[in-house]
Amino acid sequence: MQVIFHSHACFEINSAQGKILIDPFLRDNPKAIVSPDDFQELDAVLVSHGHGDHLGDAIEIALKTGAILIANSELADFAARSGVKVHRLHIGGKYQFPFGTVKLTQAIHGSGIANGDGTYLYGGLACGFLIQAEGKWLYHAGDTGLFGDMQIIGRYHDLELAMLPIGDNYVMGPEDAVIAAQMLRAKHVVPMHFDTFPLIRQDAGNFLDLLQRKAPECVGILLDVGQMMEL
Ligand code: NI
Ligand code: MN
Repeated sequence: MQVIFHSHACFEINSAQGKILIDPFLRDNPKAIVSPDDFQELDAVLVSHGHGDHLGDAIEIALKTGAILIANSELADFAARSGVKVHRLHIGGKYQFPFGTVKLTQAIHGSGIANGDGTYLYGGLACGFLIQAEGKWLYHAGDTGLFGDMQIIGRYHDLELAMLPIGDNYVMGPEDAVIAAQMLRAKHVVPMHFDTFPLIRQDAGNFLDLLQRKAPECVGILLDVGQMMEL
């Protein structure tokens, strides 16, 4: 299985079961090096919540590729109005797709869809994703603060990889992300949601050092934008 980091919270997962894209924020993302047009064959686009840096180009990509857009019910309903094929899930629920099993987890965060004039459409609740493909469990935390039930996620899923935000301000900072890693006990931890904008600038090297000291059972991996890791 290949996991490719497309900057911010966007990851592409290519397994023997199919191709999944998570939170494709590309066109308005100063750090992205791929564009929505670079995706031709895709089985699913997963969207963790309604904020622009996650919903991003998801609808456009799903429309163009015919991929199914998976999100919480309210956000999926919003996407469906554009003619996108959707699958509605909600927190705690999972569904077995041909390309893998997707389960929605809680995330402590908002999910409003900005109208652009300071008002918001209701976008359900922010979520994270547990994804199982090729028998391996991956966890994409979405945008979230630290929460104690990560312990439960870690206890009941043998996580091959956890993708955790470290950017602080809107989401967990490096210290909390290390505590998250301790609870999740994932074999590999990849930091995300940092350095995209000045406000969320972080020293990812410091995060990896802290992780190694406080959670030595987790291997921290820093992916450059566009870099792929093999699982
Ligand atoms: Ni957000
Ligand atoms: Mn975000």
